[in-house]
Amino acid sequence: MVKVTVCGAAGGIGQPLSLLLKQSDLITHLSLYDIVNTPGVAADLSHINTKSKVTGHVGAAQLEEAIKDSAIVVIPAGVPRKPGMTRDDLFKINAGIVRDLAVAAAKFAPKAFMCIISNPVNSTVPIVTEVFKQFNVYDPKRPVGDKDRVRDLQSLLLDRIFGVTTLDIVRASTFVSDLIGAEASTLRIPVVGGHSGVTILPLLSQVAGTDKLTKEQIEQVTHRIQFGGDEVVKAKDGAGSATLSMAFAGARFALNVLEASVKGTSNIVECTYVHLDADQAGAKETKSVVGDKVEYFSVPVELGPNGVQKILPIGQINDYEKGLFAAAVPELTGNISKGSAFITEGA
Ligand code: NAD
Ligand code: LMR
Repeated sequence: MVKVTVCGAAGGIGQPLSLLLKQSDLITHLSLYDIVNTPGVAADLSHINTKSKVTGHVGAAQLEEAIKDSAIVVIPAGVPRKPGMTRDDLFKINAGIVRDLAVAAAKFAPKAFMCIISNPVNSTVPIVTEVFKQFNVYDPKRPVGDKDRVRDLQSLLLDRIFGVTTLDIVRASTFVSDLIGAEASTLRIPVVGGHSGVTILPLLSQVAGTDKLTKEQIEQVTHRIQFGGDEVVKAKDGAGSATLSMAFAGARFALNVLEASVKGTSNIVECTYVHLDADQAGAKETKSVVGDKVEYFSVPVELGPNGVQKILPIGQINDYEKGLFAAAVPELTGNISKGSAFITEGA
């Protein structure tokens, strides 16, 4: 049984994301939760002749049943930006929404992989982590390598809280492939850091073919990747932010987590915003670049049966990228402290 719960399933991201997840044979139960409209969305999706059973749950009274024993909880619940807003402007509303969903997950699905899409991701991931700590279900120091237990999602405490930054990687490969002429779907560009403006850090110097680009081209495409979300918010002109491309990216990430955990497929690497676990060599290396105060960062992560199997090193960065890192740190540390304090200090 592999149950996946989408929280915010009736929304702009939630609906197409649920449709994409419905196509996966790895999922046996797709559970759709929202405060509105999930019975209709679930009835609609349930007519598709793929493996998973679909259930719809609406309102707080049905949250326990929606989330109970899920292997993955994907959270695109909350309000999106309008033109002129920053992602941090969403904190006032979305922090409480994510906290309440994290409380339900901590109580009813404490070993689920948590895929956090709701903005501001830089702060909502620390919120989920602090809630899990309060409920004593946060334990990144899990046993690894125990083959008998490897596929049993319910028997391990896992390092499993992920900020979904996959859209930044998807955008980077689209925008850069336009410039260097590579096939976008196969071009993997590491994008590290956070998920807002200057905290988004594309590592273009690590990508073959970008040496052909001029300094101006590198600067322009870096800026476009960092502010790609604003491009969509502006074009939608008050009707929200990226939904379809986010659904694509969110499904890719969630299905890769399942592929690594349920199927045991190895060598799946995604950049994702995670806690920089001090025991991981890759986390230490990242901290040596950005400083000890940065507790969360999007880094290349090898996914495995335990969630974060290994944090990989961010690798070589050039002087231009070092400047981007320096510019990212103040905003990122502020966002992280704000998210953590929301739970630890009720602030
Ligand atoms: P939307 O308004 O279309 O949908 C949000 C859904 O959340 C709605 O159906 C709403 O009813 C539901 N919701 C509100 N409160 C809830 C609660 N307490 N419990 C469950 N569901 C609740 O918004 P959207 O365009 O789908 O965006 C959702 C979030 O995703 C926003 O915060 C947006 O900024 C973020 N986002 C993140 C990324 C990323 O890269 N991580 C990309 C795009 C959007
Ligand atoms: C994005 O990058 O598209 C999302 O974070 C939504 C937004 O507010 O830009």
